[in-house]
Amino acid sequence: MIFSMNILGIETSCDETSASVVRDGEVILSNVVATSLKEHEKYGGVIPEIASRRQLESITAVVEEALRTADVKANDVDAVAVTREPGLIGSLLVGISFARALAWAVHKPIVDVNHIEAHLYASFLRRADEHADLPPLPAVGLVVSGGHTSLYRINDFTVFELLGQTRDDAAGEAYDKVARILGLGYPGGPVIDKLARGCGGTDIVFAPAKLPDTYDFSFSGVKTAVLYHTRKHPEVLARPESVASAFQTSVVKVLVDKSMAVCQSTGVRTLVVGGGVAANSALRESLRAAGESKGVRVYFPPLPLCMDNAAMIAGLGYRLLKR
Ligand code: KG4
Ligand code: ZN
Repeated sequence: MIFSMNILGIETSCDETSASVVRDGEVILSNVVATSLKEHEKYGGVIPEIASRRQLESITAVVEEALRTADVKANDVDAVAVTREPGLIGSLLVGISFARALAWAVHKPIVDVNHIEAHLYASFLRRADEHADLPPLPAVGLVVSGGHTSLYRINDFTVFELLGQTRDDAAGEAYDKVARILGLGYPGGPVIDKLARGCGGTDIVFAPAKLPDTYDFSFSGVKTAVLYHTRKHPEVLARPESVASAFQTSVVKVLVDKSMAVCQSTGVRTLVVGGGVAANSALRESLRAAGESKGVRVYFPPLPLCMDNAAMIAGLGYRLLKR
C-alpha cells in the first residue's frame, strides 16, 4: 500500500498571503494567493506595516480556502511547512505564528523553509491533471526575484550550494527602480517587459557589469546609467520604450551569460530558474535559446509559480521533512 503525504504550505514573506496543499512534494492540490500589492502601488514599493496588517486579516481565510479546495481537513495534513526567512519580519511573523499554532493544534510537525531555495523548487511541481517533464538533479539554479539574484548548485533538495549572488541591487529591484526613474509605477518588471517587447530596436547600450572571474552580479551600475541617460535626455520620459529595452537587454545578457558559464564549468546540463523576474519574456526566450545551443535543458515554472506562492514552500517542505 502506498501512503501519500499532504503538506500544507504557508508563505507570508512579502506582500502576499498564500497557502497551498501539495501531495508528495510534487502535485499541487490547491494554491491560494491573496496580495496587498494594490495598496502599495501609490507608495512605489511595499510598505511592511500595511503588508503585515493585511496578512493578519486574511491568513485564516486563505488557509481555509486552500484546505477546502484541496479537499483535505486540517487534521489530515501530514505537516505544516512555513517560510522562515528571508523576508519582512512582521510579515514572516504572521505566517510563522499561524503555522506553529495550527501544527500544535493538530499534532503535526512543522518544517521551516528558506524562501529563496523554495523559488527554485517551483519547477519541480505540477498540477494533478498535468504530466510535466520535471527537471533531473543535479541542477544549476538561478533565482531572480525582487530581493535576490543568486546562482546555486542543487545537489539534492537539502543541499543548495551558493555559487554567486548580487553585490548590490537584485535584478527585480533594478527593474523596480528603473521603472520609478521612467515614471512607470510599481512593480516595474511587468511594464518594462511589455514596453521592451513593443520596442522595434534601439541604439542605446547600457553595458552590463561583467565582474569577471566570479559568478556574482551587480545591477546598480546599469540602474545609474539609466538615471544619467534620462537626466541628459528627458524627452525619453515621453517614449520610454528604447531605454526600457536597452536596460532589459543589459540585465538579461548578464543573467544568461553567467548561468551558462556555471553550467559549463560544472558540467551540469540542467538549469532551473525561479523568482518574479523568471516571468520575464526576454529572459525566458534568451535562456532557452542559449540552453539549446549549449546543450543545457532550461526549466521555468509556469508564470503564477514564478511569483511568491505557498506551493513551492509545501513542496520543498516535504523534501526537508523526508530528510
Ligand atoms: O519573487 P517575487 O514575487 O518576490 C520576491 O521574493 O522578491 O518577485 C517580485 C519581483 C519584482 O521586483 C517585479 O518587478 C519582478 O519580480 N517581476 C518581473 C516581471 N514580473 C515580475 N521582472 C521582470 N519581468 C517581469 N515580467
Ligand atoms: Zn520571492
